Amino acid sequence: MTTGSTKRQDGFTDEAREALLLVRHDLHQHPELAFHEERTAQKLYEALERLKPARLDRVAGTGVVARICGRDPHAPTVALRGDIDALPIQENTGLPFSSRHPGIMHACGHDVHATWTLGAAQLLADQPADGDVVILFQPAEETGKGATAMIEAGALEGVQAVFGAHVDRRFRVGEVVADAGPLAASADTFSIELIGSGGHGARPHEGADPIVGAAAVVTALQTIVSRLVNPATAAVVTVGTLQAGTASNIIPDRAFLTGTLRAIDPDTRRTLHDSVQTIAKAIAEAHGLTANVEVAVGTPPIVNPEEPVGWARTAVTTLLGSDALKPLGTLNMGGEDFAFYLEEIPGCFLRVGARESGGEIIPAHNPHFYASDECVPVGAAVLAETARVASAALRGRRNR
Ligand code: NI
Repeated sequence: MTTGSTKRQDGFTDEAREALLLVRHDLHQHPELAFHEERTAQKLYEALERLKPARLDRVAGTGVVARICGRDPHAPTVALRGDIDALPIQENTGLPFSSRHPGIMHACGHDVHATWTLGAAQLLADQPADGDVVILFQPAEETGKGATAMIEAGALEGVQAVFGAHVDRRFRVGEVVADAGPLAASADTFSIELIGSGGHGARPHEGADPIVGAAAVVTALQTIVSRLVNPATAAVVTVGTLQAGTASNIIPDRAFLTGTLRAIDPDTRRTLHDSVQTIAKAIAEAHGLTANVEVAVGTPPIVNPEEPVGWARTAVTTLLGSDALKPLGTLNMGGEDFAFYLEEIPGCFLRVGARESGGEIIPAHNPHFYASDECVPVGAAVLAETARVASAALRGRRNR
């Protein structure tokens, strides 16, 4: 992998780096939606095959799991996860390797996550950790279903710690966020059906108007964050859809609302779930309506634990110096299904700077979003070194 020329600081030769960027460009040009990542999975499978892993399996439909051998078969196993799915967005970056799939785009940088995780596998094949490192290529992060599918397929069996990273254009290439504490919010959804009694718009007293009731519910739901949640923590209640009615002079018999709930701790998350139920039902009753309320539990929050964060920080400092470590700053209320792995085993999720010098901050899930090529070898090296540090630390703890 790295024969034939001198290695860069990140552990890659110039040739290996170029080859890795070709993979990145290829994946970016061929984005695939959740659980349809057939081509992506095949490409990654073939690239991993060349590393002669101890095991290589297709799992969870379009997932891939590879086991890269460590130096000692008895040392603890850790895992690195890269998500691989794209989004239903028409790309408008103007990149020479823009999406060739109309209406589908790697607008969240998962092409980079797949590639740097492959790069980490290459670095670990070249310079192994103490124990085995399991490489997890996970489908369907964007729908919040992929991590669960991987776990159900047994991908974490025998794994003692798991690490992953996300590109972030708020940070420059070479900067890494490895903070303990909340990093991503829980992301749950709710739906409310308000059932009233329809009639003529000129005679509202004869029915029960679900539109006026829906308006009152939307307003009342805003008091959850402002009045029921501790102001020192973060939470969001957003009503994203509201549908009712067919004509200006008809009172409909039903209204539908859906929305998203975000929190960063379990207590607040429970408060949001319970309050949506209580408030929607009480307001409905006050308007002579019946409310059917459903809360669908999505991804939990990511709260990075101290010890694995320490391993990642050691890795970043070794590779890039301590100045590379940046605080997260403003809390991210987005969801990330890596949280499901952290419900099973310890680990940590990093954010890796993806903004080239002179570049703008562009939010993810935007048609103009892209991550700089330069962050690919950085992410690969940080993940590989984190796996080495974690493996050694877990082994040392066991031997104590
Ligand atoms: Ni993402």
